[in-house]
Amino acid sequence: MSNEKTVNTPSVSSLVRIAEDIDFFAGLTDGERGVTRLAYSRLERVAHEHFFNEMTALGLDVTTDAAGNTIAELHPTEHSDLPAIGTGSHLDSVPEGGRFDGIAGVVAAMEVARRVVRDAIPRHRPWRFVVFAAEEGARFGQACNGSRMIAGLTVSRDTSEFVDDSGTSMAEAMRLVGLRPDDLESARWDSKDWFAFLELHIEQGAVLESRGVSIGVVDAISGSTRLSVTVLGQASHTGGTPMHLRRDALVTAAACVTACDALARDPQHRGTRITVGRLSVHPGSITTIPGKVEFTVDIRDVDSQRQRRTAEALGELFGRIAEEGGTSLAIALMGDTSPVVLPEWVARHVIAAANELGLGFLVLPSGASHDSQQINRITPTGMIFVPSRHGLSHVPEEFTTSEQIARGTDVLLGAMIRLDGAR
Ligand code: GLV
Ligand code: MN
Ligand code: MN
Repeated sequence: MSNEKTVNTPSVSSLVRIAEDIDFFAGLTDGERGVTRLAYSRLERVAHEHFFNEMTALGLDVTTDAAGNTIAELHPTEHSDLPAIGTGSHLDSVPEGGRFDGIAGVVAAMEVARRVVRDAIPRHRPWRFVVFAAEEGARFGQACNGSRMIAGLTVSRDTSEFVDDSGTSMAEAMRLVGLRPDDLESARWDSKDWFAFLELHIEQGAVLESRGVSIGVVDAISGSTRLSVTVLGQASHTGGTPMHLRRDALVTAAACVTACDALARDPQHRGTRITVGRLSVHPGSITTIPGKVEFTVDIRDVDSQRQRRTAEALGELFGRIAEEGGTSLAIALMGDTSPVVLPEWVARHVIAAANELGLGFLVLPSGASHDSQQINRITPTGMIFVPSRHGLSHVPEEFTTSEQIARGTDVLLGAMIRLDGAR
């Protein structure tokens, strides 16, 4: 970590543009509370179209691929065959989410593009500005869909396996908004075409804020394993059925939820985070014993072995709990993404850019998932974090000031310029 000395203040026009872009995207929401712009929804497409139009107006070559990723390319100032550098993030949200998760990185990318064009910054490499599709796993269980398709980790046949709450498959949702789930091979990136990638993102934790530091340099990104659990018991009359004759699916599910919490707090699993974020009780009547309960489990870890071991341990624990309760239980895998360690040499360019601007930085891991996780399989990738107020994210209270985003954007631009010149 370095101290913040002679901090360059972001320009007022940059701050204003960033604030306007954030406000614009926040207006594209389906609901009253916070921002709801789900993966592969019409509103997500409208947000991508705005980015598409802004980048086209700046003179960039813009395309949307079969997976729904939008990619804007700025050619080198003089002809060269050097591989590209890129930056970007996502524009979809969780239900009742915030205004900054993903958006901050897209807005920063848009601002970098404007400044590079306006200031005619010389470039040896192609610069690509990318909005990844369907990053949030909240709708289909699997996260980072657009970037997984780019990396070949999700292929066409997988898209009919992922299904949302209403029974719509990912493939159907994609077709409904004009995308091409059967042609995902065409969306893949070739490593030879790339030199490096950077993503700016809000921290979604409180480390930077509590340390009073403007910039986070990410060294590792957590993986996630998501399970869908169905418990079957026997629905019956709440008054007529004595306690010793019950097979209550919710009693089993409740014990499973507390087992998740206890396992993640066990010293052997220190660093693992386990969450039951959705639970539905059937038939959901005050006077009927729950006969069926469905719930999700989200396991996050920076250690891939521990992540998968935890999922197995939970499977065994849940089985025993169900047996004791006279219920039965089935577990399905909803999504699985490995953690990654990001390359240090890319992070060093970010650190050099922060130092040059007199901004303090802290090297830290990411607890959340990011498209960078998948893109790092194609090209060396780095992440820049900016502070999140009170560490809150995936909620309407999520907040980062325009100035904090602008500082991160200055670092992003500086790091892109360094990567452009690196060999
Ligand atoms: C992505 O936002 C995640 O859930 O980590
Ligand atoms: Mn995000
Ligand atoms: Mn998110």
